[in-house]
Amino acid sequence: MIISKVMAQLLTGLVFLSDISRYSIAAGTLSPIQPLRDGQTLVSAKETFALGFFSPGRSKNRYVGIWYNKQPGDQTTTVVWVANRSSPLSSTNGSLELNGNGTLTINSMIFLPMPMVALTNPVAQLLDDGNFVIREANSSEFAWQSFDYPTDTLLSGMKLGWDLRTGLNRNLTSWRSKEDPSPGSYVLSFDLEGLPQITVWSGSTKKYRSRLWADVKFDDRQDMRRRYGLRFSFHNNKDEVYYMYNTTGTELVIRVILDQSGMFKKFVWIESTSMWNIFLNYPMNKCQEYSRCGPFGVCNINDWAICRCLQGFKPKSPQERPLMDASSGCDRLTALDCKNRSDGFMTVTLAALPETSNAIVYTNINQDECRARCFKNCSCTAYAAVNNIRNINGGGLGCVIWVTELIDLRMSPHPTENVFVRLAAADLASISNKSSKKSQTKSVVLIIILSMAALIIPLIYFYSWGKKKMIHKDIRGNGEFELAQLQWSTLMVATHNFATTSILGKGGFGLVYKGKLAEGHEIAVKRLSRKSTQGIDEFENEVTFIAKLQHRNLVRLLGYCIKGDEKILVYEYMPNGSLDAFLFGKEKGDHLDWQTRFHIIEGIARGLLYLHQDSRLRIIHRDLKASNILLDIEMNPKISDFGLARNFGDCETMIKTRKVVGTYGYMAPEYTLDGVFSMKSDVFSFGVLILEIISGQRNRILLSNPHLYLLGKAWSLWNEGKVLDLLDPLIGNSFSVTRVMRCINIGLLCVQEKPEDRPSIASVVVMLSNDDAPLPEPKEPGFKAIFSTKHDAVSNQNDLHTFNDITLTEQTGR
Ligand SMILES: *[C@@H]1O[C@H](CO)[C@@H](O)[C@H](O)[C@H]1NC(C)=O
Ligand SMILES: *[C@@H]1O[C@H](CO)[C@@H](O)[C@H](O)[C@H]1NC(C)=O
Ligand SMILES: *[C@@H]1O[C@H](CO)[C@@H](O)[C@H](O)[C@H]1NC(C)=O
Ligand SMILES: *[C@@H]1O[C@H](CO)[C@@H](O)[C@H](O)[C@H]1NC(C)=O
Ligand SMILES: *[C@@H]1O[C@H](CO)[C@@H](O)[C@H](O)[C@H]1NC(C)=O
Ligand SMILES: *[C@@H]1O[C@H](CO)[C@@H](O)[C@H](O)[C@H]1NC(C)=O
Ligand SMILES: *[C@@H]1O[C@H](CO)[C@@H](O)[C@H](O)[C@H]1NC(C)=O
Ligand SMILES: *[C@@H]1O[C@H](CO)[C@@H](O)[C@H](O)[C@H]1NC(C)=O
Ligand SMILES: *[C@@H]1O[C@H](CO)[C@@H](O)[C@H](O)[C@H]1NC(C)=O
Repeated sequence: MIISKVMAQLLTGLVFLSDISRYSIAAGTLSPIQPLRDGQTLVSAKETFALGFFSPGRSKNRYVGIWYNKQPGDQTTTVVWVANRSSPLSSTNGSLELNGNGTLTINSMIFLPMPMVALTNPVAQLLDDGNFVIREANSSEFAWQSFDYPTDTLLSGMKLGWDLRTGLNRNLTSWRSKEDPSPGSYVLSFDLEGLPQITVWSGSTKKYRSRLWADVKFDDRQDMRRRYGLRFSFHNNKDEVYYMYNTTGTELVIRVILDQSGMFKKFVWIESTSMWNIFLNYPMNKCQEYSRCGPFGVCNINDWAICRCLQGFKPKSPQERPLMDASSGCDRLTALDCKNRSDGFMTVTLAALPETSNAIVYTNINQDECRARCFKNCSCTAYAAVNNIRNINGGGLGCVIWVTELIDLRMSPHPTENVFVRLAAADLASISNKSSKKSQTKSVVLIIILSMAALIIPLIYFYSWGKKKMIHKDIRGNGEFELAQLQWSTLMVATHNFATTSILGKGGFGLVYKGKLAEGHEIAVKRLSRKSTQGIDEFENEVTFIAKLQHRNLVRLLGYCIKGDEKILVYEYMPNGSLDAFLFGKEKGDHLDWQTRFHIIEGIARGLLYLHQDSRLRIIHRDLKASNILLDIEMNPKISDFGLARNFGDCETMIKTRKVVGTYGYMAPEYTLDGVFSMKSDVFSFGVLILEIISGQRNRILLSNPHLYLLGKAWSLWNEGKVLDLLDPLIGNSFSVTRVMRCINIGLLCVQEKPEDRPSIASVVVMLSNDDAPLPEPKEPGFKAIFSTKHDAVSNQNDLHTFNDITLTEQTGR
């Protein structure tokens, strides 16, 4: 025993010794007596970052660099800093040394630039934030730090911008290519002219620009701050002007890079997938390209023309008139008449201020004085009062005055920046005439529409009433809708006499069978449970009514059959089955990447919108859940079982639950507790669905274990700022963090306790389809009440469990 232990120790020792050439220097310090050879790495105390020699991609050149150390596989794919990026070594005999006076050398050649003052007892250390510093051993002040010499990456705590005292300008320069870290074509730098802004240059051409700290879309800062406590900040005083973000105190690892194609990208490290996820990619659209529409041209990505002239301006080159999709820009309709003092100002609200590098900035001036200054100076073309600038001279209020053409004007759905543009009196007058005309036209159109509707709606009503008894014989119909009354015998053949092997599952109102018609058409046959007391006429009415609900996100009713007590509905067959199988069941994870999930969420929302609003009759589904969402061959979601609750469900299911139709876990508190149902209760179920789709977890209600309750979990993660932990690990890597967070936000809004707090499905559709739509902060989901209630059904855990697990798929043989 003892001997073998000793042997083992010896062996590990030997292994260790033979491997010594690849050892890592702990605590990340390098001292003058201890060079770092090619093959060794210097690792920061918490092993977050490592420094060593590397070759990017297939390149044979050796560089000294710093990379993120927690990434599995080839870590040099996330190099965050490169020393002397233009001067690589051609062989692996490199050695990094710290001189006695505190200067770093590679094979005796000095890194540039290095500390100006000689140190006496230097150490070099790689810190956990990725900063490589040189300091006196007995001091915490850095004599030199890699953070002052960024390459293409900005890390937390790194300053982007100027130290005005030393003239140090920290900018980002892209790599030449993935395999060549030497300076490439693009530079992102802090522009001090005019109102400070960040500009990306390609050589001497501006590619795009932003006031990062002011332009929400550029850095997602509001979302990130709210979720993670992430702080993006802009500092502007007489010594320093810089932009920075700070993740200290959060779990986040973020890196921001300017890539080889000049794109500005933000990545966040996702622990659960061990991968980097892009959460910002800028520019995202044509309008973010610099001066896309030329002087006085406004770029609006949501406009079919993209470029339009500001009001009071006309395209410079007439041939561009229809589209104006060019950068030559616009001219005034009427020349200014400054001497006569007749000019005025037009207010334009934009996504961002126009190019400010050529603007003049005055501090501590209010809006009225700003206007007066612009009015007085005949070269002034526009002014803007800016509240939150902290200018180089200090102060808060700012007045920005442009004396040139206005460049790089961008419009967005939620513009925030007011700019006052000088116009000739004539142009101002015609604009105000035009806008009043517009509103007149609008009300005229509205009146016409209303009066036409008053005439037409009764007509439609009588027309469809006359056709109510439409019954057709065939199900083949060439894409055109026809409701078929099928023969009992046809269905018997199609389902092999309702064989148990044909059962697809059990829906809310009876068993569902798969069937195949003689022509090969596949159908789903729902055999309604027999207890229904409805008469034949009523049933036909109901079926005709359901059949009229047609939307691409609703399962289509193809036909029906009545024989004696038997009432049967025939639906289109959905080859991919139901969503719950993909989320929780056998097919878990298959095909369900983020794009698909989002597509499904959007589709369900649209289907529900149709039921609630767009169909002629307002339908409340009452039992929206993952097993009621079917997927077609292209993974388009289709809501099933709609329209049934009104007439087919009530008696039977009410007996079972005493009070309610629906599924625990999806039911809104007001329904569970008081039996009150509204469209907002469907919204609640939809919110649960969103969270289930994102998390891949079922919303279970087990009184013994409230932690399994997904809404509770989502709510606490939301408040802890760790909402990404909710993500299904199977979701893959290609998702937008902002989108995901928006979706979770929307999900939480939908499951709020009070129905009146929940958005309507119409607002949900807007929120989902428009990334710019602002989202309210959700209140606590309505689940407390469920856990505190003594409601009969709820207190019976077993019952609940089965209830939760009734799905179309768990009983299928697929
Ligand atoms: C490293 O190798 C290169 C070529 O292989 C050689 O020119 C150079 O002198 C070597 N440097 C050191 C420090 O050994
Ligand atoms: C770093 O680059 C400078 C020129 O850019 C060069 O003079 C110096 O020798 C290089 N140092 C190393 C260690 O390659
Ligand atoms: C440190 O020593 C190197 C030579 O070993 C020299 O080139 C460099 O100028 C010295 N640095 C300072 C700050 O004195
Ligand atoms: C650090 O040590 C140097 C000499 O080794 C000494 O001159 C200096 O005062 C010390 N600084 C501090 C902060 O102790
Ligand atoms: C970052 O934030 C932490 C926590 O608020 C703070 O202690 C630290 O000084 C900040 N870092 C920088 C560089 O501002
Ligand atoms: C970027 O920084 C470097 C080093 O400070 C400087 O030489 C260069 O001019 C800067 N580029 C721009 C566009 O500001
Ligand atoms: C300026 O005012 C004068 C007198 O009011 C008028 O005659 C002249 O036409 C005006 N100029 C323009 C360009 O409107
Ligand atoms: C208008 O402002 C510009 C820019 O500050 C200045 O050069 C020009 O002299 C001013 N003109 C007048 C009439 O004040
Ligand atoms: C604006 O409308 C008023 C009356 O409606 C008219 O007198 C005036 O000429 C119009 N101005 C322009 C520039 O069309």
